[in-house]
Amino acid sequence: MDSLSFLTLMVVLLGLMGRCMSGPTPRLSFLTGSSGRRLTFFSSHEVSNTTTLLLSEDEETLYVGACNAVFALDVGSEDVITLRKKLDWSPSDKDLEQCSMKGKKKADCHNFIRVLQFLNSTHLYTCGTFAFSPHCTYIHLDTLKMDPSTEEGRGRCPYDPYQRNTAIVVDGELYTATMADYRGNRPVISRHLSESSRVDMKLDDALGWLEDPTFISSIFIPHDEKIYFFFREVGREYNFIDKFIVSRVSQICTSDVGGQRTLQRRWTTFAKAQLLCQAGTELPYNVIQDIVILPPAEGDPADETVFYGIFTSQWAVNSGRSAVCSFSLTDIKSVFSGNYKVLNRETLQWSTWVQEKIANPGECGLHNASDNVLRFVKENFLAEDSVRPHGRRLTMETSRHAYSRLKVQRVQAANRKHYTVLFLLTEAGFLHKAVLLQPGVHIIEEVQVFEATQLIKSLELSISKGQLYIGTSEGVLRVPTSNCSYYWTCAQCVLSRDPFCGWDPVTRICTEVTGSQSTLIQDIDGGNVEDSCNSLSSTHITRFGPSKRPSASCPAGELVSVSLNEVVRLHCPAASQLSQQLWERPNSRISADLYLQLEDGSLSFVATPTTLGHYLCLSTENHYRQTMAIYQVKQKSSTGSQTPPSYTRTWARPTTQASTRPGTHTSGTRNWPKDTESRQVETKPSLSIRNSHVTTPQLSRNRTLWTAGSGLRGAMFPDGEPVLSAPCPRFLKELVIVSVLLVICLSLLVTMTLYAVRQRCQSRTAPQTRTLTRDTDSRTSEDQEALRGNQIFNKRSCQAQNGDRAAGLVCNGSLLEYRQNLPNTPL
Ligand SMILES: *[C@@H]1O[C@H](CO)[C@@H](O)[C@H](O)[C@H]1NC(C)=O
Ligand SMILES: *[C@@H]1O[C@H](CO)[C@@H](O)[C@H](O)[C@H]1NC(C)=O
Ligand SMILES: *[C@@H]1O[C@H](CO)[C@@H](O)[C@H](O)[C@H]1NC(C)=O
Ligand SMILES: *[C@@H]1O[C@H](CO)[C@@H](O)[C@H](O)[C@H]1NC(C)=O
Ligand SMILES: *[C@@H]1O[C@H](CO)[C@@H](O)[C@H](O)[C@H]1NC(C)=O
Repeated sequence: MDSLSFLTLMVVLLGLMGRCMSGPTPRLSFLTGSSGRRLTFFSSHEVSNTTTLLLSEDEETLYVGACNAVFALDVGSEDVITLRKKLDWSPSDKDLEQCSMKGKKKADCHNFIRVLQFLNSTHLYTCGTFAFSPHCTYIHLDTLKMDPSTEEGRGRCPYDPYQRNTAIVVDGELYTATMADYRGNRPVISRHLSESSRVDMKLDDALGWLEDPTFISSIFIPHDEKIYFFFREVGREYNFIDKFIVSRVSQICTSDVGGQRTLQRRWTTFAKAQLLCQAGTELPYNVIQDIVILPPAEGDPADETVFYGIFTSQWAVNSGRSAVCSFSLTDIKSVFSGNYKVLNRETLQWSTWVQEKIANPGECGLHNASDNVLRFVKENFLAEDSVRPHGRRLTMETSRHAYSRLKVQRVQAANRKHYTVLFLLTEAGFLHKAVLLQPGVHIIEEVQVFEATQLIKSLELSISKGQLYIGTSEGVLRVPTSNCSYYWTCAQCVLSRDPFCGWDPVTRICTEVTGSQSTLIQDIDGGNVEDSCNSLSSTHITRFGPSKRPSASCPAGELVSVSLNEVVRLHCPAASQLSQQLWERPNSRISADLYLQLEDGSLSFVATPTTLGHYLCLSTENHYRQTMAIYQVKQKSSTGSQTPPSYTRTWARPTTQASTRPGTHTSGTRNWPKDTESRQVETKPSLSIRNSHVTTPQLSRNRTLWTAGSGLRGAMFPDGEPVLSAPCPRFLKELVIVSVLLVICLSLLVTMTLYAVRQRCQSRTAPQTRTLTRDTDSRTSEDQEALRGNQIFNKRSCQAQNGDRAAGLVCNGSLLEYRQNLPNTPL
């Protein structure tokens, strides 16, 4: 795409882009302290600013790099995380004094561990900022004792604790990407600890290799003997836009030993390319935040490797949005084997004029190459093409969550099919579990993992133990990747569409899927309850339906006594954030002129003789209906007493009360439940009442219940909010002519389109508004109140107090107030 058409598109899109987009809603939400997810927290006075997490191979020990210390935590136990060993590594008073004298804040003059890697079978290698004077050292794995000789860490670890860096050990050699000076403007990608006969390597000092980069991640691909570094930097090739950020993938060969005269001790295999997280012609998500590798499934070729990355946008019009993109290794390799742009080292300008290709930049094995070839490599290291996302589309896009870190896992479902599950950490402190499906992403759940915004956060996944570890300022938190027992009916288990969980028809529990159980009931792609759970024996199920005498099977519901002309409000819990509530009356219609269905799903109306009677609240999700509440509204016998104006019972207790007192029934209840309800039920025997009072948590009356607009399968980006925003002045300034032309030529068309789009957005957004406010993490005041009263994380600064015993704290229901956001669903 040439620069003009690129900019033209941007200008157009600034006004139009994705106004309807909002992104998928997590199906369930577990707030801090919810019993549905047992979080294990490790903290002590000594742990603060957890910067690096490293899991041992057996996943029994978690090494934690924090402020002034390295910890070895025992994570083998299900209940608690305990401290195994601790290494103190603080700068001396003299170091601190020097740091302060250089004008740095005291709080930043600690030793923040930024490199923590397994070096060999007996040692760890670690580096820290060490009061703005980076140091590195060897640590013995078993004793966690430090090698007495520390070495200078320049080029291995940043000076400034607020700068990001990345490091990886391959065959005992350390590869790093970091700022290599105190002021933080000398970026370098280098190799250290090179094996005896090899030399340490770095990027050539000449300008232009890297432009003010932020390093994100480094990944080794053994098959290619290459290390890929991911970072973002200023895209000099877009010199017509000021400070345009581009995300990059770059590569070096581990066999590189530099040239003989040209590029001595410098990379001869460095090449970089733009990573483009962009759908079609929309504004790109240009700022990479994190990226991880999903290796190919066992037995598949190495080129099936895929990288998943989180991207945000540089432009205000896109603030708060983020996207997930995937890139295939094959695409990356084909971009690196294509043409390259040419850098004029005097003007530092890039041109796309293609030199006669006398070498393949990025190719391994140029040690003995001629000076000519190496000079060519030195000028041609930016690939002409960009790496586009796999399938040419975004994996996921959302305007509700700013994602910051991710992990990925391939999960084998009960039908032996593989699904990709992403764990995404939001800036607001939620962990999302999302499964990638054909039509888009389904977010199975969100778990609140921290409350205060975290500057540094790290995420580690233990696949064999089914746990995620999150490092925050205050300590380390462990979250199980799934809790199938939370779903206690087949319908819930199937609706969750969680590849980790399946319904066992024999034991009748929702259980973890392991390779050996293919009999489990699951429907990840469709979430279709009727087809999946239908085969179950119905002997345990009490059915509604005309086949039985209504008086025997029809529960009377909650009695609601009202006076005439009083405003009645009936509440209805949501089965999930994707369900929709729906009210029905037996033998009667709920007409809009008499009834008002409120945004939280509750029903409001004025008590009159015609509105007395039975009410049924149904929840629909993915075409599956279940009864959430049954009320019987009747007139008060004694008119003298005061009645509260709103009736807020939230839960049906469908224990059968066959003999309701005579006279309490209104005419509508006679033949109940016929018509509206029974027709549905007859063909769908899964609608049933069973045990709903047994494990149902008592909902707080003040609890806000959330509904989402759409429960339709496959509706991935169902709703949106039309937001109009001002176009970016910079683009307008630079492209006045194009804009004017566009406005003149297309004004009529655009106006009409916008109008149409807005109309559509509004209608699609209508049922979603409350969910949106909630999902942008602006909690209701009650929620915030409760959260404040519920602090499990204590604020700690980096002043380590020696002598305090570290302890694991289990945040279970007994320690923390029970705060479940969503009810279990009765069936
Ligand atoms: C799973 O959920 C159940 C039901 O809410 C709860 O009792 C249990 O503690 C949870 N387990 C874990 C490991 O979170
Ligand atoms: C691991 O590396 C350390 C530091 O270089 C060295 O002392 C130790 O002998 C090495 N261990 C093995 C098993 O190679
Ligand atoms: C470079 O070439 C010389 C002979 O020309 C050879 O001995 C040497 O092994 C080569 N070096 C590498 C790293 O291939
Ligand atoms: C360390 O954590 C504290 C809060 O816990 C935070 O204010 C500070 O900025 C952190 N320091 C660094 C370097 O991240
Ligand atoms: C509900 O709200 C009322 C007043 O707003 C308050 O007094 C009461 O404690 C709250 N109840 C719960 C369970 O939060």
